[in-house]
Amino acid sequence: MSYFERMQVKYKVLQDKEDVLILSIETSCDDTSLAIVKNGRNVLATLTSSQIDIHALFGGVVPEVASRNHLLTITPLFKQLLQQAKIKQSQIDCVAVTYGAGLVGALMVGVNFAKSLAFALDVPLIKVNHIKAHISANYITHENLMPPFLALVVSGGHTALLRIDDYFNHKVLATTKDDAVGEAYDKVAKVLGLGYPGGPVIDKLSKKGQANISFVKPFSKSEPSFSYSGLKTAVINHLHMLTQKNQKPAVEDVCASFQKQAIAQLVDKTVYMAKKHSFDKVVVAGGVSANSALREGLANAGSSNEIEVFFPDLKYCTDNASMVGSEAYFLMKNNKNLADLHLTAEPMINLKYVN
Ligand code: KG4
Ligand code: ZN
Repeated sequence: MSYFERMQVKYKVLQDKEDVLILSIETSCDDTSLAIVKNGRNVLATLTSSQIDIHALFGGVVPEVASRNHLLTITPLFKQLLQQAKIKQSQIDCVAVTYGAGLVGALMVGVNFAKSLAFALDVPLIKVNHIKAHISANYITHENLMPPFLALVVSGGHTALLRIDDYFNHKVLATTKDDAVGEAYDKVAKVLGLGYPGGPVIDKLSKKGQANISFVKPFSKSEPSFSYSGLKTAVINHLHMLTQKNQKPAVEDVCASFQKQAIAQLVDKTVYMAKKHSFDKVVVAGGVSANSALREGLANAGSSNEIEVFFPDLKYCTDNASMVGSEAYFLMKNNKNLADLHLTAEPMINLKYVN
């Protein structure tokens, strides 16, 4: 029997095991994160080493610097994680890793670590799509949440609405024509001199400002796509115009106006699509799901339209390994995504690619 055939047998056995412990790994961007997740919803231990301070010096993530830091951090983090979870290596039932989308060098560190560990422990290896994992973060926060539902994915690289029919099938209903919403937040913060990442700081400053600047024309709710480059460019043009007149921007008002228009698009299109496709549950995922205006706006719009809206706990909104362990558990239960030792990083994996 080949190595992979043996793993297929082990994978099947796990599907009937009562308690399954998954060691999960996430290194797609600038966070090195490891977790031990029991039965998809219970995080026994998690550790994340953030590189934000390092990349902030450069105004954004430098891929090569990210890879080198993952490499330095991942092994000590793994040792600490086992201590925190109070388990032995031999209790790990399988290893799960994000293999795409993300930065190729960063992903490679996680994928190679996962392959070595799975081989050494002689346990199955599960490959996980980063975007699907963001959605699964909600299974940890909401213990009774199950598909079907409409998912709004809002991160640094994606803005999309997906119909989630079951734990392993999805269909893309809308996506962005240009920039992702998180990317627009980061670029606007950069031109305002607010540093990286832009989302949290713009969100904070928005609360002190007035949304009194109109940057873009109203959008059509029914168009099945998002767009953020027009809004981003309008903010940049506004700032250039003030510089030419030797005037300083009202930074808090610019933030409040940008945020209002960025979030209105997400709220209105999500509610429109939920009603059109008869969903009574909407699940929000990705880094921008931490945004206070989105959380409040979508919860209010949901309750006026009899739609239940779910957000992950704030600690599971941005990149983390717990969400990878959750997604991997449901893939395992459905006999999906078992990987062999040829697994490699797929930086450009897109949402239409199943799993
Ligand atoms: O999901 P994530 O951690 O990484 C990707 O997969 O891209 O998302 C990161 C993005 C960044 O663009 C960051 O600015 C944004 O999430 N973000 C926010 C907030 N917190 C993080 N955007 C708006 N408001 C926030 N509070
Ligand atoms: Zn992410």
